[in-house]
Amino acid sequence: MKEYNWVSLGCGVIANELAQAMAAQGRHLYGVANRTHQKAVEFAQKYGVERVYERIEDAFADPKADIIYISTPHNTHIEYLRAALKSGKHVLCEKSITLNTGELEEAAALAEKNGLVLAEAMTIYHMPLYRRLRELVQGGALGPLRMIQMNFGSYKEYDMENRFFNPRLAGGALLDIGVYALSFVRWFLSQAPDRVLSQMKPAPSGVDEQAGILLMDPAGEMATVALTLHAKQPKRGTIACDKGYIEVYEYPRAEEAVITYTQDGRREVLREGRTGDALWYEIRDMERTVAGEADEMHLDLTRDVTELMTRLRGEWGLRYPEEEPGYAGKEPLL
Ligand SMILES: NC(=O)c1ccc[n+]([C@@H]2O[C@H](COP(=O)([O-])OP(=O)(O)OC[C@H]3O[C@@H](n4cnc5c(N)ncnc54)[C@H](OP(=O)(O)O)[C@@H]3O)[C@@H](O)[C@H]2O)c1
Repeated sequence: MKEYNWVSLGCGVIANELAQAMAAQGRHLYGVANRTHQKAVEFAQKYGVERVYERIEDAFADPKADIIYISTPHNTHIEYLRAALKSGKHVLCEKSITLNTGELEEAAALAEKNGLVLAEAMTIYHMPLYRRLRELVQGGALGPLRMIQMNFGSYKEYDMENRFFNPRLAGGALLDIGVYALSFVRWFLSQAPDRVLSQMKPAPSGVDEQAGILLMDPAGEMATVALTLHAKQPKRGTIACDKGYIEVYEYPRAEEAVITYTQDGRREVLREGRTGDALWYEIRDMERTVAGEADEMHLDLTRDVTELMTRLRGEWGLRYPEEEPGYAGKEPLL
């Protein structure tokens, strides 16, 4: 497989995981850039990264940089996406890729115009287990798909300044964890849902702390999604078909599922891939896609999920500062 020069824009929790995933394969990130330069210097020392950029824009200007990996807060993504794609760089961007559909379509148009790969780092689209389960569901072995249930609960301490609750950092359950639940749902549904009902409870900062979402696609396949940023829930997804149901454990980086064949009660345990390799699967699929060997990145599904989230926030009346008409409150990042 062709190897590319990756540059990490950001060096927080998930960027560390990416660097570790590369190291486990005997690879290194090529470059790193970060708002706080000193942290980039330390990150580079820790992971043997060749280039540390003085300014973030220097990464986009580096002809040796092939793929930019963005892992800064959601509301900063679009500015970095624009700059990277205009500079001819492929981009793998952490979830949620953009605040809304308008931003995503702008970035997708830039990528298309410049012949670049633009993708969201959505674990679910790359874990081998989900690929196997999707083949199983779409192949009809369990009969027609009827209902998906997906819960995601994460207990975050009440701190209205952190990225989970702060509207100025595009906080809220939907963009932080709902994006996983909806991507799981979309991965298995045969079409994008066109009917949507929901209830949302805001956090003290006004962003969505909890939500219940009910979806149906034109084929009548349905899904329920329960999200909370202030309580844990079992990490389990259920996919129910006519002749059986699938339970996925330790979602989203799942490696095990149990299939129950309801006609005879038989249970089958399916194991595929490794939780610990979750980020490596994303890197590998991105490189294969950039090399033109296959399109493994599923931007079409990212678009459907982003559209759903845009619609839901529209129904909740939840707009981030950047989405307010005439917004001029932020210093440019670049
Ligand atoms: N943590 C996870 O398990 C996980 C998993 C998957 C995806 N993600 C996604 O990855 C992204 C980052 O998550 P994280 O947990 O890695 O966060 P984190 O540890 O807080 O790191 C955030 C990074 O973004 C930079 N940053 C913060 N505010 C910024 C701003 N206003 N402008 C430019 N850069 C800024 C930080 O730079 P400084 O060093 O200057 O603060 C740091 O490098 C989020 O979009 C999240 O949804 C996280």
